Amino acid sequence: MTTIIGLCGSLRHGSFNRMLLRAAVDVAPPGTAINPESIREIPLYDGDVEEEQGVPPAVQRLKDRIADADGVLIVTPEYNASMPGVLKNAIDWLSRPAADITRVFRGRPVAIMGATPGPGGTALSQAAWLPVVRQLGMRPWFESGVLISDAGRVFDSDGRVADAATRQRIRTFVEGFAVFAGVQQRQDDRRVPAALTPQ
Ligand code: FNR
Repeated sequence: MTTIIGLCGSLRHGSFNRMLLRAAVDVAPPGTAINPESIREIPLYDGDVEEEQGVPPAVQRLKDRIADADGVLIVTPEYNASMPGVLKNAIDWLSRPAADITRVFRGRPVAIMGATPGPGGTALSQAAWLPVVRQLGMRPWFESGVLISDAGRVFDSDGRVADAATRQRIRTFVEGFAVFAGVQQRQDDRRVPAALTPQ
Protein backbone atom coordinates (compact mmCIF):
# COMPACT_ATOMS: atom_id res chain seq x y z
CA MET A 1 0.00 0.00 0.00
CA THR A 2 1.25 3.46 -0.91
CA THR A 3 0.23 6.00 1.71
CA ILE A 4 0.17 9.71 1.05
CA ILE A 5 -0.46 12.34 3.70
CA GLY A 6 -2.76 15.13 2.48
CA LEU A 7 -2.18 18.55 4.00
CA CYS A 8 -4.74 21.28 3.32
CA GLY A 9 -3.52 24.83 3.86
CA SER A 10 -6.89 26.21 4.87
CA LEU A 11 -8.75 25.93 8.18
CA ARG A 12 -11.96 27.31 6.70
CA HIS A 13 -15.06 25.14 6.94
CA GLY A 14 -16.06 25.82 3.31
CA SER A 15 -12.51 25.61 2.00
CA PHE A 16 -12.18 24.98 -1.73
CA ASN A 17 -8.80 23.44 -1.05
CA ARG A 18 -10.33 20.93 1.35
CA MET A 19 -12.85 20.10 -1.39
CA LEU A 20 -9.93 19.59 -3.75
CA LEU A 21 -8.17 17.33 -1.25
CA ARG A 22 -11.37 15.31 -0.88
CA ALA A 23 -11.57 15.00 -4.67
CA ALA A 24 -8.00 13.68 -4.65
CA VAL A 25 -8.86 11.14 -1.94
CA ASP A 26 -11.82 9.96 -4.02
CA VAL A 27 -9.74 9.25 -7.13
CA ALA A 28 -6.78 7.57 -5.42
CA PRO A 29 -6.03 4.40 -7.40
CA PRO A 30 -6.26 0.92 -5.88
CA GLY A 31 -3.27 0.30 -3.63
CA THR A 32 -2.94 3.99 -2.70
CA ALA A 33 -4.50 5.78 0.25
CA ILE A 34 -4.47 9.55 0.59
CA ASN A 35 -4.93 10.31 4.27
CA PRO A 36 -5.88 13.92 5.06
CA GLU A 37 -4.28 15.23 8.24
CA SER A 38 -5.40 18.37 10.04
CA ILE A 39 -3.04 21.18 11.00
CA ARG A 40 -5.66 22.82 13.20
CA GLU A 41 -4.09 21.77 16.51
CA ILE A 42 -0.62 23.00 15.58
CA PRO A 43 0.21 26.18 17.55
CA LEU A 44 2.13 29.16 16.27
CA TYR A 45 5.82 28.38 16.17
CA ASP A 46 7.60 29.78 19.23
CA GLY A 47 11.28 29.08 19.77
CA ASP A 48 10.89 29.58 23.53
CA VAL A 49 8.19 26.89 23.67
CA GLU A 50 10.42 24.56 21.69
CA GLU A 51 13.36 25.21 24.00
CA GLU A 52 11.38 24.81 27.20
CA GLN A 53 8.87 22.09 26.28
CA GLY A 54 10.08 20.58 23.03
CA VAL A 55 7.87 19.92 20.05
CA PRO A 56 4.11 20.00 20.87
CA PRO A 57 2.29 16.63 20.85
CA ALA A 58 0.18 17.52 17.76
CA VAL A 59 3.37 18.29 15.85
CA GLN A 60 5.08 15.11 17.01
CA ARG A 61 2.09 13.02 15.94
CA LEU A 62 2.02 14.54 12.47
CA LYS A 63 5.79 14.21 12.10
CA ASP A 64 5.48 10.50 12.82
CA ARG A 65 2.64 10.09 10.33
CA ILE A 66 4.63 11.83 7.60
CA ALA A 67 7.71 9.76 8.46
CA ASP A 68 5.63 6.58 8.04
CA ALA A 69 4.11 7.69 4.72
CA ASP A 70 5.37 7.36 1.16
CA GLY A 71 4.54 10.90 0.12
CA VAL A 72 2.95 14.23 0.97
CA LEU A 73 0.26 16.01 -1.03
CA ILE A 74 0.13 19.75 -0.30
CA VAL A 75 -3.18 21.38 -1.22
CA THR A 76 -2.58 25.06 -0.97
CA PRO A 77 -4.58 28.26 -1.11
CA GLU A 78 -2.83 31.41 -2.29
CA TYR A 79 -2.63 34.40 0.03
CA ASN A 80 -1.10 37.65 -1.15
CA ALA A 81 0.64 35.91 -4.02
CA SER A 82 2.26 33.34 -1.73
CA MET A 83 1.53 30.36 0.50
CA PRO A 84 -0.87 30.53 3.47
CA GLY A 85 0.80 31.29 6.80
CA VAL A 86 -1.05 28.53 8.66
CA LEU A 87 0.47 25.79 6.54
CA LYS A 88 3.92 27.37 6.46
CA ASN A 89 3.74 27.60 10.25
CA ALA A 90 2.82 23.91 10.45
CA ILE A 91 5.70 22.92 8.16
CA ASP A 92 8.08 25.06 10.23
CA TRP A 93 7.09 23.20 13.42
CA LEU A 94 7.27 19.86 11.57
CA SER A 95 10.86 20.69 10.61
CA ARG A 96 11.92 20.94 14.25
CA PRO A 97 14.28 19.87 15.64
CA ALA A 98 16.34 20.16 12.48
CA ALA A 99 17.99 16.82 13.25
CA ASP A 100 14.62 15.15 12.48
CA ILE A 101 14.34 16.64 8.96
CA THR A 102 16.08 13.61 7.53
CA ARG A 103 13.59 11.19 9.09
CA VAL A 104 10.47 13.24 8.34
CA PHE A 105 11.11 14.93 5.01
CA ARG A 106 14.32 14.06 3.24
CA GLY A 107 13.79 12.15 -0.01
CA ARG A 108 10.03 12.05 0.55
CA PRO A 109 7.92 12.55 -2.58
CA VAL A 110 5.77 15.68 -2.57
CA ALA A 111 3.18 17.07 -4.96
CA ILE A 112 1.43 20.42 -4.80
CA MET A 113 -1.97 21.50 -6.03
CA GLY A 114 -4.34 24.32 -5.20
CA ALA A 115 -7.62 26.09 -5.79
CA THR A 116 -8.65 29.73 -5.73
CA PRO A 117 -11.77 31.68 -6.63
CA GLY A 118 -9.40 34.04 -8.45
CA PRO A 119 -7.98 33.72 -11.96
CA GLY A 120 -4.43 32.60 -11.18
CA GLY A 121 -5.01 28.99 -10.09
CA THR A 122 -2.62 29.35 -7.08
CA ALA A 123 0.37 29.42 -9.45
CA LEU A 124 2.24 31.89 -7.24
CA SER A 125 1.51 29.95 -4.08
CA GLN A 126 2.58 26.68 -5.64
CA ALA A 127 5.80 28.34 -6.80
CA ALA A 128 6.36 29.78 -3.32
CA TRP A 129 6.40 26.26 -1.86
CA LEU A 130 9.29 25.18 -4.06
CA PRO A 131 12.15 26.64 -2.01
CA VAL A 132 10.55 25.16 1.11
CA VAL A 133 10.37 21.61 -0.23
CA ARG A 134 13.87 22.03 -1.61
CA GLN A 135 15.17 23.16 1.77
CA LEU A 136 13.62 20.07 3.36
CA GLY A 137 15.21 17.82 0.75
CA MET A 138 11.88 16.50 -0.52
CA ARG A 139 11.37 15.01 -4.00
CA PRO A 140 8.84 17.13 -5.89
CA TRP A 141 6.72 15.56 -8.60
CA PHE A 142 6.18 17.92 -11.52
CA GLU A 143 4.82 15.76 -14.32
CA SER A 144 1.31 17.19 -14.19
CA GLY A 145 -0.41 20.06 -12.43
CA VAL A 146 -3.69 20.99 -10.81
CA LEU A 147 -4.23 24.76 -10.67
CA ILE A 148 -7.90 25.49 -10.15
CA SER A 149 -9.14 28.99 -10.93
CA ASP A 150 -12.68 30.26 -10.46
CA ALA A 151 -13.20 27.62 -7.77
CA GLY A 152 -16.73 28.81 -6.97
CA ARG A 153 -17.82 27.45 -10.34
CA VAL A 154 -15.65 24.32 -10.34
CA PHE A 155 -17.13 22.89 -7.12
CA ASP A 156 -20.86 22.32 -6.72
CA SER A 157 -22.90 23.04 -3.60
CA ASP A 158 -21.93 19.62 -2.16
CA GLY A 159 -18.26 20.46 -2.57
CA ARG A 160 -17.82 17.99 -5.44
CA VAL A 161 -16.01 18.79 -8.67
CA ALA A 162 -18.80 19.65 -11.09
CA ASP A 163 -16.78 19.59 -14.27
CA ALA A 164 -15.72 16.25 -15.85
CA ALA A 165 -12.55 17.64 -17.42
CA THR A 166 -11.34 18.96 -14.06
CA ARG A 167 -12.19 15.64 -12.38
CA GLN A 168 -10.10 13.88 -14.99
CA ARG A 169 -7.20 16.29 -14.49
CA ILE A 170 -7.26 15.59 -10.75
CA ARG A 171 -7.39 11.84 -11.42
CA THR A 172 -4.43 11.99 -13.81
CA PHE A 173 -2.46 14.02 -11.27
CA VAL A 174 -3.21 11.70 -8.36
CA GLU A 175 -2.51 8.55 -10.35
CA GLY A 176 0.81 9.94 -11.57
CA PHE A 177 1.90 11.03 -8.13
CA ALA A 178 0.81 7.71 -6.60
CA VAL A 179 3.05 5.84 -9.04
CA PHE A 180 5.95 8.20 -8.29
CA ALA A 181 5.50 7.89 -4.53
CA GLY A 182 5.22 4.12 -4.75
CA VAL A 183 8.37 3.78 -6.82
CA GLN A 184 10.33 6.27 -4.77
CA GLN A 185 9.64 4.68 -1.42
CA ARG A 186 12.38 5.98 0.71
CA GLN A 187 15.61 4.03 0.81
CA ASP A 188 18.12 4.51 3.57
CA ASP A 189 20.87 5.05 1.04
CA ARG A 190 19.12 8.21 -0.23
CA ARG A 191 19.64 9.87 3.12
CA VAL A 192 22.30 12.53 3.39
CA PRO A 193 24.50 12.57 6.49
CA ALA A 194 22.88 14.29 9.45
CA ALA A 195 25.82 16.71 9.51
CA LEU A 196 24.44 18.28 6.31
CA THR A 197 20.98 18.85 7.79
CA PRO A 198 20.20 22.59 7.99
CA GLN A 199 20.22 23.98 11.53
C1 FNR B 1 -6.71 35.73 -0.56
N1 FNR B 1 -7.09 35.18 -1.77
C2 FNR B 1 -6.20 35.17 -2.83
N2 FNR B 1 -6.44 34.44 -3.97
C3 FNR B 1 -5.54 34.39 -4.97
O1 FNR B 1 -5.78 33.73 -5.98
N3 FNR B 1 -4.37 35.10 -4.88
C4 FNR B 1 -4.05 35.84 -3.81
O2 FNR B 1 -3.01 36.44 -3.76
C5 FNR B 1 -5.00 35.89 -2.73
N4 FNR B 1 -4.72 36.60 -1.59
C6 FNR B 1 -5.51 36.45 -0.48
C7 FNR B 1 -5.10 37.01 0.73
C8 FNR B 1 -5.85 36.78 1.87
C9 FNR B 1 -5.37 37.31 3.17
C10 FNR B 1 -7.05 36.04 1.79
C11 FNR B 1 -7.86 35.77 3.05
C12 FNR B 1 -7.48 35.54 0.61
C13 FNR B 1 -8.38 34.51 -1.91
C14 FNR B 1 -8.28 33.06 -1.56
O3 FNR B 1 -7.86 32.36 -2.70
C15 FNR B 1 -9.66 32.56 -1.12
O4 FNR B 1 -9.99 33.14 0.13
C16 FNR B 1 -9.72 31.05 -1.05
O5 FNR B 1 -11.08 30.66 -0.92
C17 FNR B 1 -8.89 30.50 0.10
O6 FNR B 1 -8.81 29.10 0.03
P1 FNR B 1 -9.87 28.15 0.75
O7 FNR B 1 -10.05 28.60 2.17
O8 FNR B 1 -11.18 28.27 -0.03
O9 FNR B 1 -9.28 26.78 0.64
